[in-house]
Amino acid sequence: MASGYDNFPPGFFDRSDPSDDAVFYAPDRMVTHIDDQAIEEVGRLYTELGVHGQVLDLMSSWISHFETAPGHLTVLGMNAEELAANAMADDRVVHDLNQNPALSFADETFDDVVCCVSVDYLVRPLEVFAEVQRILRPGGRFVCTFSNRCFPTKAIQGWLMLDDRQRMDLVGIYFDLAGGFTAATKDTRLNGMGSDPLLAVFAEKLSQ
Ligand SMILES: C[S@@+](CC[C@H](N)C(=O)[O-])C[C@H]1O[C@@H](n2cnc3c(N)ncnc32)[C@H](O)[C@@H]1O
Repeated sequence: MASGYDNFPPGFFDRSDPSDDAVFYAPDRMVTHIDDQAIEEVGRLYTELGVHGQVLDLMSSWISHFETAPGHLTVLGMNAEELAANAMADDRVVHDLNQNPALSFADETFDDVVCCVSVDYLVRPLEVFAEVQRILRPGGRFVCTFSNRCFPTKAIQGWLMLDDRQRMDLVGIYFDLAGGFTAATKDTRLNGMGSDPLLAVFAEKLSQ
């Protein structure tokens, strides 16, 4: 385990279903995990931030939510059929980040990395965030978005105990503990009145 986990109480990263993620994600789910307004807001955020170069969508499925497809989009997730159905994707990688948080990409491969409604499933987030930092080019952003919905048996116990604001703080702590990022920006994009809430936490890879 990477250092940093001693900042969290025992059991924080446990899940009520600790079985192999490959079992849970074997059936494809060609569904949306947040409502249409929240999906549009994710796309609006990516456009506002200018996420349009060589991009990795981490923990992806059949949709990546961009208003316009990036120049080159790599999608990484658990289900090959879902990734195959992702019309924006140029490259597809099936990879279990909970079995192996190390990413197969070279240092400084991507302009930006995004992760939508999935950070709550990571049992080794500090290693994953450190890996994202490694594969980003200096100045590249890691953009995490999430709502208040999840597969509760697969989300970490710590996530389930927190409210939306505390979850933004938690993702900010992941950036701090992984190291090599600017201070995270925390942005409540939708407050949950009339649609699903949509929270964003993102930070930039430091140059040195
Ligand atoms: C709620 S879905 C979100 C999918 C997509 N990002 C979206 O916005 O619709 C959670 C995604 O996380 C991925 N995932 C869950 N556990 C994972 C793991 N251990 N390693 C890699 N990806 C994982 C699954 O493949 C699934 O597509």
